[in-house]
Amino acid sequence: MNKKNTTWDANQYLKFENKRLRPALELLDRIPLKSPKKILDLGCGTGNVTKIISERWQSSKVIGLDSSQQMLEKAQKFSSEITWQLQDINSWNPDETFDLIYSNATLHWVKNHTEIFSRLLSKINKNGFLAIQMPLNQKAPSHALMSKVLTELNFCSEEFRENLWAKAVEEPSFYYDLLAPKVKMIDIWTTTYYQIMEGENPIYEWVKSTGLRPVLKNLTEMEKEIFIPEYQKRLRIAYPKQKDRKTIFPFTRLFIVAQV
Ligand SMILES: C[S@@+](CC[C@H](N)C(=O)[O-])C[C@H]1O[C@@H](n2cnc3c(N)ncnc32)[C@H](O)[C@@H]1O
Repeated sequence: MNKKNTTWDANQYLKFENKRLRPALELLDRIPLKSPKKILDLGCGTGNVTKIISERWQSSKVIGLDSSQQMLEKAQKFSSEITWQLQDINSWNPDETFDLIYSNATLHWVKNHTEIFSRLLSKINKNGFLAIQMPLNQKAPSHALMSKVLTELNFCSEEFRENLWAKAVEEPSFYYDLLAPKVKMIDIWTTTYYQIMEGENPIYEWVKSTGLRPVLKNLTEMEKEIFIPEYQKRLRIAYPKQKDRKTIFPFTRLFIVAQV
């Protein structure tokens, strides 16, 4: 499936800014570098985290890379000190190397993790760090229901439905086997955030700016009119409201920190 051409809506993405920021900061907290010379924020999006990175390591050269023009336009307002680079990770293969490659909530959009993770390691200087966070919620109703409802309605191809999210992120043991022989330290952990959400159908609002985008891009207007209400209905059942009308959205994320 071609996820890379889906359009990012920066404003919709920023609607849940604090909830999306927390794992980014928790990842940052686990990088024990004192003064890295060069840092890459891979898939920097609107640059919120890139800005925090450049404030933490003020003497470092920081580069924010993303394939979305719209996200980078927002990012550019943050700082002229940060270098913003419009580039697709799939074709990214620079001559330069980095002391830290940081990537928050991005690599689940990119296929072939065996190749990508090996390429990332090859671009990190000795003693440098790789720090990655990816959602590990592809089996949760929020994502599994996309394929399920599409299948029931017989919308999109079978291949699209099967490849939608099911294989986007591997199990932690996959990344351990891939990285451990090539690094001197590796730390892998998961955290499940029980996100308290407000609004009529907050899970729909959340996925609309992220995981649902490839689906919406692949449906005709008529198909959307049928798919969206059905998917919304299933979400409400899968994530019932609490007594105070708020909704709990359990969200598991996978963290990897490795020193080369
Ligand atoms: C969920 S956002 C995360 C943004 C940022 N890292 C953050 O934590 O807020 C994912 C970002 O990955 C970028 N992205 C997705 N696929 C990409 C690719 N193949 N190459 C470069 N960037 C990509 C998107 O444009 C988007 O800005």
